Amino acid sequence: MTQTLLLTRPVPQAGREILEGAGVTLRLAVEDPESLPSRESLERGIQGADAVLSLLTESIDEELLRVAPGLRGVANMAVGLDNVDVAAATVLGIPVSNTPGILTETTADLAFALLLVVARRIPRADRYTRAGHFRAWGPELFVGLDLGPGADGRAKTLGIVGFGRIGQAVARRAVGFGMRVLAHDPGHRERVEKDPVARWAELDELLAGSDFVSLHVPLYAGTRHLIGPAELGRMQRTAILVNTSRGPVVDERALVEALRAGRIAGAGLDVYEDEPALAPGLVELENTVLLPHVGSASRSTRDGMARAAAENALAHLRGERAPSCVNPEVYESEAYRLRVTRR
Ligand code: DGY
Repeated sequence: MTQTLLLTRPVPQAGREILEGAGVTLRLAVEDPESLPSRESLERGIQGADAVLSLLTESIDEELLRVAPGLRGVANMAVGLDNVDVAAATVLGIPVSNTPGILTETTADLAFALLLVVARRIPRADRYTRAGHFRAWGPELFVGLDLGPGADGRAKTLGIVGFGRIGQAVARRAVGFGMRVLAHDPGHRERVEKDPVARWAELDELLAGSDFVSLHVPLYAGTRHLIGPAELGRMQRTAILVNTSRGPVVDERALVEALRAGRIAGAGLDVYEDEPALAPGLVELENTVLLPHVGSASRSTRDGMARAAAENALAHLRGERAPSCVNPEVYESEAYRLRVTRR
């Protein structure tokens, strides 16, 4: 009997090929790649499905997982897992997998790109040129901030909050710009201390001492609103905040206030607290660059993520250990054994 995989939304062809090649029946919760599936279509789709391949836009919560007693796994095509209730899945005996490692460099590139374009006011300068306003070079035209030591000779400091794979990749890029790197990671002080590039700093010290602050923590209860009014108030008035992690790590309304009041100089955002909605006032602010969650959006990375998610999904369907399972303890559980012996 062929097995059924619920795809919450279409995935890149590179992943579909693997699944189709393995003879898996694919059930799509929504056909249009630009649309989000309704809750009803997810509940309908998961019933009788053997596994799920989800994107970060779908909430795979306990209630949904309980609809599918024969579900053998959830393969999330993302490294972040804040959309999946991993704790509930573990209790229910459902392995959950993600796609770590693949998007590290691509996301670090985007974080650095945001830093550059905000500091040098590139989107505004581009719009100005296209609009035909460029009539003469001028010494005050689009004057921005240095990333490295400028004519003032002062090395700039990049503060990295969250020092996992992506945070470390951002630190490596900073070296090429002659930056000093401060890093803070709530659970990984030792990792920072062993790093050849970064120096450990408590969060307050990092915020106060950095010209640029880039966020790379996963979203969980402890990192929700990690950057709120008090933290924004500790940053330098000339500082730029970059967020390519998850929107709710920043109190977005407080950020709008801080940007409006000139308490910080600018922000480069790829993610939003209530994605895809933006906090009121954000789009009107000229000192921001706003991207639609494209941190990992290069062809090779998205194909790699799709392939990794497909391989994880196949392992879930076959009752084998998934290559990137985040709760491998479920494989020893009675709840899991019951699931895979149901047929
Ligand atoms: C992830 O994988 O968590 C990213 O946000 C996708 O770009």
